[in-house]
Amino acid sequence: MPAQHVPVELNRFIGRERDLAELARLVSEARLVTVTGPGGMGKSRLAGRLLSQSLDSQISAVVVQLAATSDPELVVHVVASSLAIRGESGQPLIETLASRLRHGRFVILLDNCDRVLDSTALLAQTLLDACPTVRLVATSREPLNVPGEIVWPLQGLPEVQAVALFIERARQIHRDFGGTQVVPALVDICRRLDGMPLAIERTGRALRPRREVSASERHLEPPPTRRHSPPLNPRWDGQRLSGRLRTH
Ligand SMILES: Nc1ncnc2c1ncn2[C@@H]1O[C@H](COP(=O)(O)OP(=O)(O)OP(=O)(O)O)[C@@H](O)[C@H]1O
Ligand SMILES: [Mg+2]
Repeated sequence: MPAQHVPVELNRFIGRERDLAELARLVSEARLVTVTGPGGMGKSRLAGRLLSQSLDSQISAVVVQLAATSDPELVVHVVASSLAIRGESGQPLIETLASRLRHGRFVILLDNCDRVLDSTALLAQTLLDACPTVRLVATSREPLNVPGEIVWPLQGLPEVQAVALFIERARQIHRDFGGTQVVPALVDICRRLDGMPLAIERTGRALRPRREVSASERHLEPPPTRRHSPPLNPRWDGQRLSGRLRTH
């Protein structure tokens, strides 16, 4: 069974120190902690970070990615395959899973449960009942509503962290982006985007030079849409805010 199965981060994780500290405490106290919040608020990124950094080395951390699963019957198969557990003939897979996990020290992240919420909740309840040393972290827009669940509603990034994320992502496109003159506009944009990381990333990355331009002459283009998420609330559409970065 994998000792550690947590995805590698592809870019810098910013801030969230308070959420990480509180969640680490909650995971040590409760056996199911669900991080909730609107799409793009950073639930998966935060939970992945939690698993990779703050758990003791005796615990095996495993991420079960459910974003692409829409068939409720497949949930148990996705969980088993993430744990490298094979079915045994004549035994329902959920029973094999429970018996293999019964004595292990696992923290299992059930990530992006939204499309299979009821079936994930059922599986979570079965594992919690059958495997006293297993702990679960879930990310979902809504709670699982399983007995014993603790819900952590994730808020937007605080102002300083939101601006840092904007600048970081804009610099992936324009290495010289930033400077004190743009900070007031960025504070305002991030506030209007409610500190939501996905909206900030899209807005930051969508900065495009119109021609051979200086850093002060950039404007925003519409961001691409996300595969597994519904469209963002218009409130988080950074394109409307593009004028704030035009200085001419
Ligand atoms: N603290 C952070 N530092 C850097 N990037 C972040 C941070 N939080 C979120 N992001 C980035 O913002 C985007 C949205 O985050 P994430 O996928 O975790 O949101 P989510 O709440 O899980 O959304 P969904 O409900 O659609 O699954 C991702 O590209 C993620 O890498
Ligand atoms: Mg997610």
